[in-house]
Amino acid sequence: MPNPPLRQGGPAARIAVIPGDGIGKEVTPEAVKVLKAVTSSGRKIEFVEFDWGADKYLKENISLPAGAVEMLRDEFDAILFGALGDPRVPSNQHAADILLGLRFKLDLYVNARPVELLHERMTPLRDRTEKDIRLIVFRENTEGLYVGVGGFFKKGTADEIAVQEDVNSRKGVERIIRHAFEYAVAHNLKRVCMSDKHNAMNFAHDLWQRVFQEVRREYPATESRHLFIDTLAMEIVRDPSQFDVIVTCNLFGDIISDLGAQLAGGLGLAPSGNIHPGQTSLFEPVHGSAPNIAGKEIANPLGSVLTSAMMLEFLDWQPEAERIRKVVKSAFLGNMLTPDLGGEKKTVQVGDWLASNV
Ligand SMILES: NC(=O)c1ccc[n+]([C@@H]2O[C@H](COP(=O)([O-])OP(=O)(O)OC[C@H]3O[C@@H](n4cnc5c(N)ncnc54)[C@H](O)[C@@H]3O)[C@@H](O)[C@H]2O)c1
Repeated sequence: MPNPPLRQGGPAARIAVIPGDGIGKEVTPEAVKVLKAVTSSGRKIEFVEFDWGADKYLKENISLPAGAVEMLRDEFDAILFGALGDPRVPSNQHAADILLGLRFKLDLYVNARPVELLHERMTPLRDRTEKDIRLIVFRENTEGLYVGVGGFFKKGTADEIAVQEDVNSRKGVERIIRHAFEYAVAHNLKRVCMSDKHNAMNFAHDLWQRVFQEVRREYPATESRHLFIDTLAMEIVRDPSQFDVIVTCNLFGDIISDLGAQLAGGLGLAPSGNIHPGQTSLFEPVHGSAPNIAGKEIANPLGSVLTSAMMLEFLDWQPEAERIRKVVKSAFLGNMLTPDLGGEKKTVQVGDWLASNV
């Protein structure tokens, strides 16, 4: 099964912007500001903003509007997303409808989480520098334990049983493993590590093993190996420099990519992509809507700005993506940082500085 081609870069791109809730509404405009500044050199980028989030849900009882998925799929190249989550919606129903709705309905099977240390003082690891922490985690994003298949038996009694099914299709496992290898080849990365737990999960992860063994044979120039997820968790902390590309299932990828994010400076800096190669894909900072700091003008916009660089890379606008990464790095040198990173700047001040220096 060949992978679809990565999206071809064109001179123009159409981006749907969904800031969402809380600090999503504060950091996303800063990312858009930087994107506008970086694309002033001839290429054109059009932004269309959508007000989907808690306010709309509470006022109109609309989360993901009818026809939204088809519109995004047919009329936009990519989606720049903020965050969803609001204490006024304790069920988080609107977030589930919008974010999970888009992930599943747009079939965004690749969750890409780069882990890149931008400045050595940001890592909690001793004696590690930028060159030691530079890897990417590919998490399967549409299957596994997160499909919501299962049930209760004798719920609420002392004999209660809860079953949660782990759903893994041959097609789903193959396409994410193949994506990891294709990415490694395209980015001149030498090492791919597949992680599962086939010693204990002897059906689902037996499938992962068999598919991995098959696919790796097609990429003889790429060094590939397997680690059990518990070993990977230890090794990524002991020596992150041994990894370039990690590929794993939905649950393990969720956890290991957060661990990775922390190695590179934490939530405020981590970008992510929900990708279907060749089709409309969604890019979001890893952090949530942070109601505890929303409205205080201190949210760190760097995660969202780095997310927009990832989006440009997906659109094949490499030089512009690189310029954004560079200016974010120089924000560390100039201490143009928000309080969570030890700085004193406000969200908008950081965004303005990035836009005028990019
Ligand atoms: N993809 C998403 O939209 C997404 C992801 C995670 C959580 N959420 C939602 O966000 C809400 C809050 O969840 P949470 O508190 O567990 O996670 P969170 O990421 O919103 O916040 C965790 C902690 O990190 C801080 N933080 C996060 N982003 C920051 C930034 N850019 N700058 C400075 N500090 C930052 C917050 O102040 C908070 O102390 C919940 O409703 C949750 O469901 C949404």
